[in-house]
Amino acid sequence: MSNPEAAKWAAARRAVELVQPGQIVGLGTGTTAIKFLELLAQKVRGGLSIQGVPTSEAIARQAREWGIPLLESFTRVDLTVDGADQIDPSGRIIKGGGGALLREKLVALASGVEVIVVDPGKLVAELTRALPVEIIPFGVETTLARLRQAGVEPTVRPGFASDAGNLVADCAYPASLMRVPAQLHERLKSISGVVETGLFLELVDQLIIGHEDGRVEEREFRRSVAGR
Ligand code: A5P
Repeated sequence: MSNPEAAKWAAARRAVELVQPGQIVGLGTGTTAIKFLELLAQKVRGGLSIQGVPTSEAIARQAREWGIPLLESFTRVDLTVDGADQIDPSGRIIKGGGGALLREKLVALASGVEVIVVDPGKLVAELTRALPVEIIPFGVETTLARLRQAGVEPTVRPGFASDAGNLVADCAYPASLMRVPAQLHERLKSISGVVETGLFLELVDQLIIGHEDGRVEEREFRRSVAGR
């Protein structure tokens, strides 16, 4: 039986080795990133001096509880470690399963190095998962109608509000739209009322794949543009 927890720990253990003293570290959200946070907190207690930039209120609370100093504002981040919901062989990622996609993207865009930690279940030949899209609550029905006109089928997450007070709609799409993900991202993002999409394109430098037996595989990607 597969053991994604052990695989996530393996990826987190490798990621924490990458943190250097004095760095500003982006703290990702999710069940893999929180394992990294726990290991980082152990290092901080052991004397490592870093400052964190959390990608969600939940992670900020946990980081404070574990004694990790946090920055109130940031212009750049040295290294971010975050999870992914799906990643394809070109390093194109869907994030936002936990609803933190907006802050996760802002931190990724500011990061000198973006490290993504996953278990093998996140690796896919093609992106297929419903795409989380953050939208403002005002006029939501009109925004949903324009999302449908753009070719996707949104389902608003019931009872969920993002840290910015917005809604998240998980958008199903025909495979043909995801063949050109940059175009899909731009098309959805240009809709008034849409704040951000969970497509992270050219936003990963290093992928760490943990395995349940403790092994890790690493893949490097080169960002050719500033990312989206
Ligand atoms: C949070 O909004 C997401 O982007 C997470 O980073 C993503 O869902 C991965 O989470 P897990 O590591 O829990 O699968």
